Amino acid sequence: MKRIVSIVLALVMVMVFATVSMAGWDKCKGCHKETGEPMVVGGKPVLTKADLLKKFKTAADLKKAAKNAQNPIMNAFKGDADINAAAKDLGLK
Ligand code: HEC
Repeated sequence: MKRIVSIVLALVMVMVFATVSMAGWDKCKGCHKETGEPMVVGGKPVLTKADLLKKFKTAADLKKAAKNAQNPIMNAFKGDADINAAAKDLGLK
């Protein structure tokens, strides 16, 4: 019984850490690439990390642009918590 409890606890911990590690910029980089060719959506290249940093100098700029993004693919990533965490990871203030 004790053994099962510790296995379940270990699994829960792994899941919690997995979710936590998918926060902030990690949530964005699947599309906004850090290396290699930019992802293309609807024939348009999606800004890479470097492009975003070049275009947006402050967290407020990044936030405004993210919320204004036209493509519905961005809709799941427009929450304040997501964008604030990403801006922080990118070093924007
Ligand atoms: C599933 C893919 C995907 C993910 C994940 C994603 N984005 Fe985007 N993002 C896009 C696409 C596609 C566009 C272009 C939308 C358009 O052209 O209107 C975009 C546009 C943007 C823009 C606007 C760029 C501009 O030129 O105005 C910002 C800012 C942005 N994303 C930030 C983020 C942030 C921050 C995250 C993470 C919290 C994130 N994105 C996650 C696909 C994604």
